[in-house]
Amino acid sequence: MDKLENLQNHLEMCDEIILDALTMRYRMIEEITAYKRKHDLPIVQPEEEEKKRSLLLHRIDDRFLADNVMDVFENILLNSKKIQFRQLFDYNIVLIGFMGSGKSTISHALSQIFAMDVIEMDQVIADREGMSISEIFEVHGEEYFRNLETELLRELQNRKGVVISCGGGVPMRDENVIEMKKNGKVILLTASPETILNRVKNNHDRPLLENNKNVTFISELMEKRRNKYEAAADIVIQTDGKSAFEICEEIIRLAKDAQ
Ligand code: S3P
Repeated sequence: MDKLENLQNHLEMCDEIILDALTMRYRMIEEITAYKRKHDLPIVQPEEEEKKRSLLLHRIDDRFLADNVMDVFENILLNSKKIQFRQLFDYNIVLIGFMGSGKSTISHALSQIFAMDVIEMDQVIADREGMSISEIFEVHGEEYFRNLETELLRELQNRKGVVISCGGGVPMRDENVIEMKKNGKVILLTASPETILNRVKNNHDRPLLENNKNVTFISELMEKRRNKYEAAADIVIQTDGKSAFEICEEIIRLAKDAQ
């Protein structure tokens, strides 16, 4: 019994060491983020992450143990990213732009890099209605869908530190723009009509484009929307020819300066 008690005491000591180490690690993350921010250094450094992973793996001989430790470590990394993100963005990142401008891809990339929560407006609406966007347009009409967008956007103002990926038509209503600016920095993603066509050509859940998949229609609709898009935007990012990672870096750099 004494032996067991002794072991349990040791375990408690281990936990204390882990807690202290974690607290210290999270403080370091905050300091590093502040330093990078002050000196304009890239916030995201995937190669550093990889270096850490392989260093750790090399230190553990036992394979089973290594898998377990790495599992915990991945969570530590994920939480460190969340801490970093919260420090950088105490507001929402609102992505707007024409259909196919890359809002979903970039939201996904931001969620991978910074462990940010993403709200894909179209997806939330489709899930709540229990039908696809095309079906909502068909059954209830466009106005009904636009009202759902406005309602959802209002609701989202309770959230903080999330990425909101808006449907392409959201900035067309001034009341929506007022909502998104309450709590968020609005980032407009742009792309040429040719790039857009290329990105949307195989998709069939965009009722406005379904029978209009050509550069002329896309250019004209883009032109009609341009003023509203630009008026809503705090930051504009052109996406043609850039990787998702490059675009995310640009968002982080410009959002920081736009504060
Ligand atoms: C629309 C864009 C779509 C979707 C709906 C209407 C628009 O979202 O909300 O088909 O009016 O531009 P994506 O921009 O995500 O494709």
